[in-house]
Amino acid sequence: MSAQHLQNHPEWSTRLAFILASAGSAVGLGNIWKFPYIMGENGGGAFVLIYLACLLIVATPILISEVMLGRRARSNPISGMAKLSREAGVNPGWQLIGWMGVLTGFLILSYYSVVMGWALSYVEKAADGAFVGADAETVKGLFDDLVSNPGTLLFWHTVAMLMTVVVVARGVRGGLELATRVMMPLLIVILVLLVGYNIGTSGFSTAMDFMFVPDFSKVTGETFLVALGHAFFTLSLGMGAIMVYGSYMPRGTSIVRAGLWIIVLDTAIALLAGMVIFPIVFSNGLSPQEGPGLIFQTLPLALGAMDWGYWLAIVLFVLVSIAAWTSAISLVEPAVSFLWERFGVRRLYSAIGVGVATWTLGVFSALSFNLIADAKLFDKNFFGLMEFLTANILLPAGGMMIAIFATWRMRRADSAEELGLSGVAYRLWWLPAAVIAPAGVALVFLNGLGLFG
Ligand code: PFF
Repeated sequence: MSAQHLQNHPEWSTRLAFILASAGSAVGLGNIWKFPYIMGENGGGAFVLIYLACLLIVATPILISEVMLGRRARSNPISGMAKLSREAGVNPGWQLIGWMGVLTGFLILSYYSVVMGWALSYVEKAADGAFVGADAETVKGLFDDLVSNPGTLLFWHTVAMLMTVVVVARGVRGGLELATRVMMPLLIVILVLLVGYNIGTSGFSTAMDFMFVPDFSKVTGETFLVALGHAFFTLSLGMGAIMVYGSYMPRGTSIVRAGLWIIVLDTAIALLAGMVIFPIVFSNGLSPQEGPGLIFQTLPLALGAMDWGYWLAIVLFVLVSIAAWTSAISLVEPAVSFLWERFGVRRLYSAIGVGVATWTLGVFSALSFNLIADAKLFDKNFFGLMEFLTANILLPAGGMMIAIFATWRMRRADSAEELGLSGVAYRLWWLPAAVIAPAGVALVFLNGLGLFG
């Protein structure tokens, strides 16, 4: 991989490799950490329903579009969009999609690395036996201690960033496929095991009602915005990450089938994570609205009370860390592949450069839980603002542009050829991607601005 040539864009070894790597990018903190906490903050069932609708109606056609653009261009998102604009005979300004993607990846990784650091520090706590027999107060205390200590947070943020830089520097295939291949099935097994354990607990049926019986009285314009943003975030969609991975995909494999697999896997893991967290919340009289600390204040409680809990806790937090790791890598890939293909900057140097810049910005997110906790804008601290701006604004906007380009700008013969679709099957992608998905994003944006009262 490291000896790749400009003309010789790398390729995954098999179709399964593309699915594994993309699923590795998609499945991450978004599924296990973010989904439960924003579901808790947004009232449960109604949020889940709106989120699933966003996935199906908006995100699915855009995911297929993004992979298609990547594979057609066979290059990084910036040069790739320039190439595709030329092929389509349209304004090269569509490169903006690539530039926005690189910026968004940089912004996301800055705080993603902080939360990955939390997961890593919980591996250490689990190994120390800190959760064994712990009650709700102790567990909450552990999390509060962690986030109130700038030194500890920065230490783990640094470890997370180093881990990311090392893998990115080594290239696309080095270890990444293997990590995902092992992590994904194991993660599912452990989540299912924990759901099984939860079935016997007092909060299980309350949790199922909370997650699956919608209460629309809690829904606001922001609920739609958060649900839509999360559909993009959880699929790594709208910023060129999936485009880059698509560009490494061999010709002749079905984009649609691979895309659907990723969505099903990602959604299953998110729902399982919810079914693990909320029974613990309700069995222990905790609040679903704990915010970003939710999983760190709940998982240790259940694990600490289980027979094999000591070992399970270690394995689980290791898996969460690996899931975060395989996602973090993909956040840097658009920038690194651009620097290599356009300027010949070696992966090692670009990975270090991007890592240092991202780490520096991430310091503000880490400190927004302690030293600069009071610095707020729109009632959000720095971490919250970054989350909101990237997931709820930049990703959907990027996704909308991707869908518009893929349908209204590209020649239909080209998109049909790349997707390997024709007739009704082609239209089944084209219409949702051309009309429904962009209109959906536009409506949610306008609604979020309060335009519909
Ligand atoms: N999809 C990742 C998650 O759910 O944790 C986050 C993410 C990774 C978003 C890569 C965007 C991206 F390009």
